[in-house]
Amino acid sequence: MMETPPVQDGLVLALPKGRILEELRPLLDRVGLTPEPAFDDARSRALMFRTAHPAVSVIRVRSFDVATFVAFGAAHLGVAGNDVLMEFDYPELYAPLDLGIGHCRLSVAEPADLSATDDPSRWSHVRVATKYPEVTRRHFAVRGVQAECIKLNGAMELAPVLGLSQRIVDLVSSGATLKANGLVEVEVIAEITSRLIVNRAAFKTRHNEIAPWLAAFGQAVAHAA
Ligand code: PRP
Repeated sequence: MMETPPVQDGLVLALPKGRILEELRPLLDRVGLTPEPAFDDARSRALMFRTAHPAVSVIRVRSFDVATFVAFGAAHLGVAGNDVLMEFDYPELYAPLDLGIGHCRLSVAEPADLSATDDPSRWSHVRVATKYPEVTRRHFAVRGVQAECIKLNGAMELAPVLGLSQRIVDLVSSGATLKANGLVEVEVIAEITSRLIVNRAAFKTRHNEIAPWLAAFGQAVAHAA
């Protein structure tokens, strides 16, 4: 529990739950935005936390929701992968800085035995299970392939195993999840990293407060490189 609530008119930084947080932590420490201890307590039900800087709070939400909170101005800054930015394409988001963390790929994958005889250049219609229907449709449409997307929010790798769809579009990092489920990567749609994102309107109206944080994150990234 927070001892005192975050300042009402402070800035809000939206962070994604999950494995990115571990890589992000040194950057947060370096810029002086170390979250309060409750942030690291898995039992805590709080969703908004103070940081080492009195004017900035952090929220911890799902990766897609980071983009939504920042696009609508409910959070001023956020950390989101370009997979999320490609899927939503919110004009209200400005993504000025690649944080150089969260390296992975957004890829098309299919069962290894199918891949042995498959010829992607002959596809005219594919059914794909994915969290990224927009990116997937656009990716296939460019070469005249119609993608029928089945939206899932996780565990995409189960779709081919259980016959929901033969192909998936998902993030691949080590490749261990694909391998464990008998799948192989057949196309890379995009290389992914995490970006610092800013609400464009807030960046104009609160420039003096927000710009120094962009500079600080920029320096922290340069230092980590
Ligand atoms: C991601 C992704 C894959 C997995 C890939 O899921 O959706 O399932 O990681 O990583 P690998 O190539 O190193 O095995 P994550 O574990 O982040 O959880 P999620 O399903 O909740 O998105």
